[in-house]
Amino acid sequence: MLEKTITPINNNSQKKLFIKTYGCQMNVYDSAVMANLLKPHGYSLVTDFPEADLVILNTCHIREKASEKVYSELGRIRQAKEEQKAKGRSMLICVAGCVAQAEGEEIIKRAPFVDIVVGSQSYHELPTLLEQVRRQKKWAINIDFPENSKFDHLPSPSEQQSASVFLSIQEGCDKFCHFCVVPYTRGAEYSRPVAEIYREAIKLVSLGAKEITLLGQNVTGYHGDNGYGGTWNIAKLLKQLAKIDGLQRLRYTTSHPREIDDELISLHGSEEKLMPFLHLPVQSGSDAILKAMNRKHDRAHYLQVIKNLRAARPDMAFSSDFIVGYPGETEADFADTMDLVAQVNYAQCFSFKYSQRPGTPAAALANQVNEEIKADRLQRLQELLTKQQNEFNANSVGKTIEVLFDKPGKMTNQYQGKTPYLQTVNVISDSNLIGKTVSIKITKALRNTLVGELCDDKL
Ligand code: SAH
Ligand code: SF4
Ligand code: F3S
Repeated sequence: MLEKTITPINNNSQKKLFIKTYGCQMNVYDSAVMANLLKPHGYSLVTDFPEADLVILNTCHIREKASEKVYSELGRIRQAKEEQKAKGRSMLICVAGCVAQAEGEEIIKRAPFVDIVVGSQSYHELPTLLEQVRRQKKWAINIDFPENSKFDHLPSPSEQQSASVFLSIQEGCDKFCHFCVVPYTRGAEYSRPVAEIYREAIKLVSLGAKEITLLGQNVTGYHGDNGYGGTWNIAKLLKQLAKIDGLQRLRYTTSHPREIDDELISLHGSEEKLMPFLHLPVQSGSDAILKAMNRKHDRAHYLQVIKNLRAARPDMAFSSDFIVGYPGETEADFADTMDLVAQVNYAQCFSFKYSQRPGTPAAALANQVNEEIKADRLQRLQELLTKQQNEFNANSVGKTIEVLFDKPGKMTNQYQGKTPYLQTVNVISDSNLIGKTVSIKITKALRNTLVGELCDDKL
């Protein structure tokens, strides 16, 4: 049994909360919800940890590097905690998210100065866990997969929102790709009811949101309760949300190629608010590897879905995820991936070396690919993907594109926004562009961003 004592929690009513987020957009959404949840308990967000009363690391377990980052960060925070202690103050450290879910008490064993471990499905219990630590003066843990959805216990958004926001509609995954930890860290697929999502979307728009990205590990598998004894798929949900006045743009991520049906494809052709950009992970271009990965779709199906989407909406742009060096991947398999990339022509992509994850079927396979081969293939793939991204961006130069601005840029009077194709655009303007959708003439394409200027300077 692990046991430890901690110094008493600071009694001042205003407490500082620092959250560091790793991993995917689900975690970004969860971090915002945790901050909202802790506000009535006197916690307000700060941007640095040394003086925080509570530090939350919202962690990611997807690849070994992601998990290990957490422990090196914990080392730095431990130092700050000790410095605070020397000044007679206390700092609580909480590990939340997917590493918490996967490793549980192991975290306390490896880092005994951690006070709270809370999984991705139980962070609504944070106030209770904080109280438990305060009363019992020992660490607390909750990594349950509760029977009732955590969403039933979470407060709805209450503050001014960014122009572009996430809305979680679905959690978990039942697909069990052989390389992936998500089904274990996020649990079974769960779809939030339509009415709950609709209410949250209306609230977000009334608080300033112009663009909503529906989030989930498999949003295309969405099958939420429609309130009339049946369920709705994502196409029906999108159609309903598109009716909200003041909402200008809708996106959804992440999709699974097997679940993009004709209804969703045709919606891309008919619904103007649905943006012409889709993140559609394929992982590999080789049928043998897709089968070994348990992806449940083949190369031809993926290419057909892309073709159908482009037929419905000719300016549709795509991104994807790739894994190179999956166990057993030969040079010929890798050539199939390069060929698929050449056929699709992506706007942007993420690509990774296969990482062995504890407890997943692929980790136990004997035919692991050696590190040098993985590195070499990743480099070749990334060269091609970067070339495609550069071409896609260069193609925007000279065009006038609608940009939704959601944050200030790094320079004075600079504003940053997104094109319908999810490209980042920086524009200098005397008037504040945040929250506005403006026609922008693209003047330059840099590596990851575009530069543009206002077409109408009377804004
Ligand atoms: N739900 C999404 C993405 C989940 S995780 C999907 O179905 O595609 C995000 C990405 O991380 C995956 O698409 C995959 O490319 C990558 N990934 C997952 N497990 C990995 C592993 N063990 N090694 C390397 N990359 C991995
Ligand atoms: Fe992981 Fe596959 Fe589920 Fe995506 S579909 S989260 S890659 S198991
Ligand atoms: Fe990482 Fe968990 Fe997201 S493992 S990718 S933070 S669902």
